[in-house]
Formats: sequence, structure tokens, C-alpha cells
Amino acid sequence: MAKVSMSVNGKPAEAEVEGRTLLSQFLRESQGLTGTHIGCDTSQCGACVVHVNGKAVKSCTMFALEAADAEVTTIEGMANPDGSLSKIQAAFQEHHGLQCGFCTPGMVMSTAALLKENANPSETEIREYLEGNICRCTGYHNIVKAIQAAAAS
Ligand code: FES
Ligand code: FES
Repeated sequence: MAKVSMSVNGKPAEAEVEGRTLLSQFLRESQGLTGTHIGCDTSQCGACVVHVNGKAVKSCTMFALEAADAEVTTIEGMANPDGSLSKIQAAFQEHHGLQCGFCTPGMVMSTAALLKENANPSETEIREYLEGNICRCTGYHNIVKAIQAAAAS
């Protein structure tokens, strides 16, 4: 076991972890941040995407110890400071970009990373960027519409 500390959503977070503890496990089990979902644990589904030092990362592909001293943001850190939905979250709600919601945290985190890189992505660019995020419910159409709306707002 080793102690790992990092910043999560702007607050210090630390725990004793094993070398094999995944960042996704650290967030969910040590920190109680269960908005980061685990759909596969094998880097397929994207439900576990968080930001590590500003970059979108599948948190099941990284050991917690690899994130030592990093700035991590999870879906719990995405709302506006007053607790209202961020423009991306609001666009997903308004354009029905979710059904069961399981994929949604990862979709929102990936969208935030995409819009940081490319403020006005085309539909093709959105679909390509989301290749690593699987949704079993929506058929993706409304997710793309939500992202276009967020980009335009
Ligand atoms: Fe990480 Fe599916 S749980 S990609
Ligand atoms: Fe159900 Fe995407 S809304 S998996």
C-alpha cells in the first residue's frame, strides 16, 4: 500500500492504495465520487472519462498512483459554482442527449475536452471524437445535437 494524493475537483484527495488500484476505483471507492461510471474496465466504453491535468482520460486505464499530484476533474466538478448545470450538461438535458444516463458522465467529460480543443466542431468531428464513448440507448443522434447546441451557446 502507498499513500497517493491529488487534487480532485479543486479539493485535496488522498488515500492508501495498492499499486494496482485504478484511478476509477480511487475516485469511486475512496472518494465516493460515483458519478464516474465503470461500464467495462477494459478501455472500451468511456463511461469512466475524467480530466487529468486538463486532458480527457479513461480512468480505468490509469493507476491511481500515476495520478499522484495531478489536477483531476470528475463529473461532480462540472456544474457551475452556484450548483446550476454547466452549458454542456444543460444542453444534454434540453436536447435529450441521455436516456438511462449511464454513459452521460463520460459523454459530458469527453464533450468538455472536445470543445476545449475545438470550439466549433462539425458533426463528423463530434462523431469521431466520441468514438471511445459507447451509448447503448440514444443512437447518438441527440448526443450530437446536444454537443452542437453546447458549442453554439
Ligand atoms: Fe473505463 Fe469502460 S470503464 S472505458
Ligand atoms: Fe443509456 Fe447512453 S443513455 S447508455
